[in-house]
Amino acid sequence: MSQHKKTIAIYPGSFDPMTNGHLDIIERSVHLFDEVVLAVAQDNNKESLFGLEERMTMMRESTAGYENVSVEVFGGLLIHYAKQKGAAAIIRGLRAVSDFEYEFQMALMNRRLDSGVETVFLMTSAENAFISSTMIKQVATLGGEIRGMVPPAVERRLADRFKGGK
Ligand code: PNS
Repeated sequence: MSQHKKTIAIYPGSFDPMTNGHLDIIERSVHLFDEVVLAVAQDNNKESLFGLEERMTMMRESTAGYENVSVEVFGGLLIHYAKQKGAAAIIRGLRAVSDFEYEFQMALMNRRLDSGVETVFLMTSAENAFISSTMIKQVATLGGEIRGMVPPAVERRLADRFKGGK
């Protein structure tokens, strides 16, 4: 009898900070894979608002209810990390057509580097399709309401950062 081998998926990103859009993708992923590893990239050429540790703390707090979700950091190439973890898939969320070009390029590059790890695209629900970490940061910085678009752990920290609407 063949034994079921655990399917591991990596969900990589900057998660600066995690949003309800990310949580939407995670909720879909946990039903498809045995283990989902949220992997925060160390090298993504982006300036971040939150440090790595703080981002990971918020992610752990926000996904504490999932037994098969873990949070890690990775350096270097995503594909090398995915291979080293024994992952079958890399998960990316798609919101709109505008995401597609960049995602398509990245998926093909990763496939070229190693064809053994498949990139899987999952769609967010329509209600989360407009949410991005970049916009959340902008709205929070300028004193706008972000409730319902980010998990409570993130909302709290953004409020602490931008007390007084600045
Ligand atoms: O949430 P983001 O910022 O869209 O995630 C982008 C991320 C982190 C997945 C991407 O920048 C990445 O994979 N960085 C690690 C370095 C790497 O492997 N680059 C080549 C990808 S083609």
